[in-house]
Amino acid sequence: MENIISCRNLYKYYYKGQPQEFAALNNVDIDIPEGKLTIIKGRSGSGKTTLLNMMSALDSNDSGSIIFDNEDISGLSDNDKDMLRRKKIGFVFQSVAIIPVMSAYENVDFALRAAGVKKNRDARIKEVLNLVGLLERAKHMPSELSGGEKQRIAIARAIAPRPKVVFADEPTGALDTATGIKIVTLFKNLIEKEGTTIVMTTHDPGLMQLGDITYEMSDGVISVSRD
Ligand SMILES: Nc1ncnc2c1ncn2[C@@H]1O[C@H](COP(=O)(O)OP(=O)(O)OP(=O)(O)O)[C@@H](O)[C@H]1O
Ligand SMILES: [Mg+2]
Repeated sequence: MENIISCRNLYKYYYKGQPQEFAALNNVDIDIPEGKLTIIKGRSGSGKTTLLNMMSALDSNDSGSIIFDNEDISGLSDNDKDMLRRKKIGFVFQSVAIIPVMSAYENVDFALRAAGVKKNRDARIKEVLNLVGLLERAKHMPSELSGGEKQRIAIARAIAPRPKVVFADEPTGALDTATGIKIVTLFKNLIEKEGTTIVMTTHDPGLMQLGDITYEMSDGVISVSRD
């Protein structure tokens, strides 16, 4: 099994040099297998978002290495990090960041335009809306959609440009467990149909068993979860 991301000895400190300094990431080693669903669990403040931000080149680690798709990204310039994110990464967040004045269709189109996709956008928009089960809602505005449907639009938008890795930070945090399970099932379909790699964080005990591999964060320390 290939790992699309491998982190070794990652440290991230907050309040560096101050009396309250602490390691939000403390010697973290993590491997993300390609074309699988990786789940990172752990209580609030344990470091899940911090770790996602390192692996997705949104923020910089203080030491250690991050290999992303065979490239060491820990020393990249901000410009190169922007480029990496635009070319290879999709994001889904808990607070759905879809654009309220655009329909479902237009939201996905916007993501494709932002990624520089010029050709065959219409076909790809319909394909991903169909994948998330919302093709018949293409013309609906976000205000006309349920929370779970809005989250599915956000997912369609994230996957439309065919990123290698989708990072989903608490994508089901605002949803009930049953709807959360539907979202995770959708992730698994995407993995099967498109070969995407998905990394998601969750608090929901009902979802933690659904990953191909589950890691647990605790006070900045990571371990593979066995339950
Ligand atoms: N920019 C920052 N400056 C200082 N401390 C921070 C910053 N970002 C996060 N922290 C601290 O680092 C620790 C880890 O935060 P992080 O956001 O990674 O937790 P989390 O596991 O994602 O929590 P949650 O489940 O609540 O989202 C927390 O103690 C948090 O207060
Ligand atoms: Mg978080």
